[in-house]
Amino acid sequence: MTGRSNPKLAHDIAKILGQEVHEPISVFSDGEIRVRIPVSMRNKHVFIIQPTAPNANDSIMELVLMIDAAKRSSASAISAIIPYFGYSRQDRKEMPRVPISSSLVAHMIVNAGATQILTIDIHSQQQQGFVRIPWDNLFGSYAILPIIKSQKIKNLVVASPDKGGMVQATGYARLLRADDVALVYKVRDVAVNDKSETSAMIGDVKNKNVLLVDDVISTGGTIVNAAIFLKQMGAKSVRLAIVHGVFAADAASKIKHPAIDEIYITDTVQQRPEILGIKKVKVASIAPLLAKAINRIQSGGSISRDLIL
Ligand code: R5P
Repeated sequence: MTGRSNPKLAHDIAKILGQEVHEPISVFSDGEIRVRIPVSMRNKHVFIIQPTAPNANDSIMELVLMIDAAKRSSASAISAIIPYFGYSRQDRKEMPRVPISSSLVAHMIVNAGATQILTIDIHSQQQQGFVRIPWDNLFGSYAILPIIKSQKIKNLVVASPDKGGMVQATGYARLLRADDVALVYKVRDVAVNDKSETSAMIGDVKNKNVLLVDDVISTGGTIVNAAIFLKQMGAKSVRLAIVHGVFAADAASKIKHPAIDEIYITDTVQQRPEILGIKKVKVASIAPLLAKAINRIQSGGSISRDLIL
């Protein structure tokens, strides 16, 4: 089943698996979401594919309602496949009197009846411990790496736009046999939404081809500031590898900045034509990875074996 956030991805996965997809969502005139599953779910393993973007709140509501419908229809197992897990950046109390939103969303999903969660590049992997059901996390690098490898980029340095992304950056560097890694220093005022600044870096990017990696691009502030800074520090080229292309606010125009040479994203979030029309944006599909994962989950195979790059 799929909701309205990325039906294309669900259909691409189903095509690989030779399965049908049900789209059970409609909306009442007052805006309430209605779910009606057209076929029997009794004793079935149901896979619900629903990233929680571009509209985080509606997508989450659709997701929990679909899970509830499947549970009340006697499904034997319900896997919530959430390629992009919105709210996952709110995974801790970074100041007093704030919720841990990601934990709450995870609990809503479990309380609705999910028996398993599968995500791609969750913002921090410790979140898997928020709930007591299996939560597998795969990586979008599985889809992006072959494209980058095929370019045979010389003098490569992999950079992270903040310290939280260093694990991801070193992973890419290892798999691409990069010359080095670099870290751009980002300062964010936690009291202000969506604002960050770049002021320093560790590493040497002079005359290097830089691959700047991140889990998500939202307003584009983080990554565009980092790309401009890397060019000022002498980088020859800056390519971006970002798993989740949320492209909120004016990100679509920000990423056109000439400091960025190419942008690789995946289809965890369904892209607007406005983004797809930007020549330097290349989209790698996550559907083959998710199709393999679904197959393994259903047949009792290993998820980690050769699916984690
Ligand atoms: C932060 O820790 C994340 O990994 C991203 O770098 C950040 O949230 C992206 O947001 P924005 O595009 O709005 O700067």
